[in-house]
Amino acid sequence: MSRQKVILITGANGEVGHGLIEKLSQQTPRPRIVTLDIRNIAPAMQPLVERHIVGDILDTILLSTLINEYDIEAIYHLAALLSTHSEFNPEAAHRVNVQGTINLLHLAAEEGRLRGKPVRFLYPSSIAAYGVPTLEAKAAAHPATETDFPYPTTMYGCNKLYCEHLGRYYTFHYQQLSAAPSVGVDFRCVRFPGLISATTVPSGGTSDYGPEMLHAAAQGKPYACFVREDTTIPFMAMPDAVKSLLLLAEAPAEKLTQRVYNVTSFSLSAADFAQRVKQAFPDAHISFKPDKARQGIVDTWPADIDDSAARKDWGWSPDYDIERAFNEYLIPTIRQRYQNA
Ligand code: SER
Repeated sequence: MSRQKVILITGANGEVGHGLIEKLSQQTPRPRIVTLDIRNIAPAMQPLVERHIVGDILDTILLSTLINEYDIEAIYHLAALLSTHSEFNPEAAHRVNVQGTINLLHLAAEEGRLRGKPVRFLYPSSIAAYGVPTLEAKAAAHPATETDFPYPTTMYGCNKLYCEHLGRYYTFHYQQLSAAPSVGVDFRCVRFPGLISATTVPSGGTSDYGPEMLHAAAQGKPYACFVREDTTIPFMAMPDAVKSLLLLAEAPAEKLTQRVYNVTSFSLSAADFAQRVKQAFPDAHISFKPDKARQGIVDTWPADIDDSAARKDWGWSPDYDIERAFNEYLIPTIRQRYQNA
């Protein structure tokens, strides 16, 4: 029985998953995509995927049966519980975010052994992996490189930082053990800033105030922003997030000088974000009601991050700077989305 060559996407029904499925399915030749999520896949995604499996990344029996059926050439492991969500049940978040990732890394290693070449493993890490100690340090800091401030304050951030290390471990462990050094896992990770999609609304994240503000304004709903006006973090439009994952997946191995790369586009304060939203939707009613816990989280995230290594090593640059992101992607697409609805 021959195994079918596929790309596996976990957490495929999330925001990044939708964008990734759309882009991958536009490639020629069109790859076969198998998706795994604890929820059903959105109807719009269904025709684009070979098979959707409703299942849990903690189900190791389910994962091991995938190897029997599929020749998995790449894994995009997107499944995770986000930062705010994880604080309500940190141990459950640890199981999903860490044990789930080990399960997928093990699957990749097994698959690499069968294929005789490493499986590309694309992993989204996060600005939550940082922990800037004080607001003074945040204000004084230069754009943070990948190695700055490695003291995350949330369970999600700890999980992401640790899984970055696990990915490196799985890559080098097999390179050292194997007589054929190419067998094993080829782990590649991008650290995302806050992501903003025009077509989906996030849930359970702490950078969600940006997208929530926009989507509320477009629906004519009032919005109480859960962070202070001066709160500044980097953001990126969803098409650029997908672009970065695909670019890194395609980068020649010899170009990579590290396994974890920052990517970003623009930084702005919550007040500036609200201002841009009000320019587009003059009736928008946006107030500021900081939530102590969520404010505490974003206060430890750097105001800007340095993505020069990604630019140098694999030619990264975002297509959407702040003007294009708002004027050509977010505002028109969101407006259309709710007009149609
Ligand atoms: N957007 C994510 C969150 O807020 C960060 O990766 O949890």
